[in-house]
Amino acid sequence: MARLNLLAPEVQANPYPFLAELQRSSPVCQVDPNGAWLVTRYEDMVAALKDPHRFSSEGLALLAEPPWLGSNPSARSLVTAEPVRHGKLRTLVNRAFGVTGMARLEALVRQLAEELATEAVLRREVDFVEEFAFALPRAVIGHMLGLDRSVFPKLKRWGTAMAVVSAATTPEMQAEVRDAIAEMGHYLDEIIESRRREPHEDLVSDLLRAEVDGQQLSREDLVRFLFLLLPAGLETTTNLLGNMAMYLARHPEHVEKARTDKAHAVNFIEEVLRFECPIQALFRLTSTDVLVGGTTIPQGSMVILSSAAANRDERQFSEPERFLPGREKQTQHLAFGHGIHFCLGTQLARMEARLGLEALLSRIQGVVMKRGEVQWIPSLAVRGPAVLPVELLPLAH
Ligand code: HEM
Repeated sequence: MARLNLLAPEVQANPYPFLAELQRSSPVCQVDPNGAWLVTRYEDMVAALKDPHRFSSEGLALLAEPPWLGSNPSARSLVTAEPVRHGKLRTLVNRAFGVTGMARLEALVRQLAEELATEAVLRREVDFVEEFAFALPRAVIGHMLGLDRSVFPKLKRWGTAMAVVSAATTPEMQAEVRDAIAEMGHYLDEIIESRRREPHEDLVSDLLRAEVDGQQLSREDLVRFLFLLLPAGLETTTNLLGNMAMYLARHPEHVEKARTDKAHAVNFIEEVLRFECPIQALFRLTSTDVLVGGTTIPQGSMVILSSAAANRDERQFSEPERFLPGREKQTQHLAFGHGIHFCLGTQLARMEARLGLEALLSRIQGVVMKRGEVQWIPSLAVRGPAVLPVELLPLAH
């Protein structure tokens, strides 16, 4: 097979056959753009994620901060920090995202999900992304950060800008990303300043107070963390919810069962996370020559660890090409990563998906997609529909 270009339109439209072929024939190989090394087998990906010294997250930093962009605070945040610094930062932010913190949010997330579902089902024909998949995590993260509703329209712009950095190839796209990041930086500075003067019951105020062994987050680290949270918590969850609606439409046989059986609803969500994972690839930079699956990747190489491929590796999952909620080893997918950078927001994302699905299914008997072709967000890493026109079929009472 000729060198694969991950940004080619046919690959973006359906990457899985290309990835499956590489997984069989050359599980560690160079791809475009830029000759990065693509790792497609589950076992190799897990081994790399367990080895943050040789597979450094500097790879992600380089990608988030290309030369045309200048500074991007998220490129120097928790997700790119090296092990020692990472441990300190993670301890400072962990508490806010743990079980207790999430339990406190549950009633609010349920209420928001129900309001949005009621509204969307009343309108019947909607862009699911706009009306639900984006609106729910936006309201949740807006609440957590204590954002004024007047900035909600800007969140879309900021989230999209951060998500498309790696695919911003035209001067127009690059200018938009630069402007959006500057606007976001300005706004976050204002929020931090205002919470420093007058603390609220919100995440920013909690993070300003957080202290471990007498150390607090520096202002710079706080800005970087908030920069990370928006794309990490918004775009990803939006894509999970969008992908979930798509699979309700594609697999109507699961709708009734997921409505009446809570365990099946959870299984359905996990299978969406495995089968159409919202983050399809993780980026690392090799700090030395490394041998992966019999191939040597030279020092200083960009490595793309393909969660999209690993989650469909037949050595790990039986019948990987089938959408089978409740399958064996179903939570062993790599949608939330693995190792020290394992997603901080897993509990929140799973809660939003579970309560979102419950709110929808208690009102609808099914989802019909109004367009045959899905218009995917152009990206090396994220996967979800850019828009999703659907008809929500109300339940007959
Ligand atoms: C890290 C996926 C939702 C915050 C990660 C990583 C993945 C991931 C794959 C690892 C990145 C790496 O190793 O390079 C997802 C998916 C989500 C989701 C698929 C939704 C379905 C969230 C939410 C939040 C969040 C809701 C917070 C509001 C973070 C943070 C990190 C992270 C802060 C960095 C953790 C660290 O480096 O220690 N996420 N995420 N994520 N995620 Fe998520």
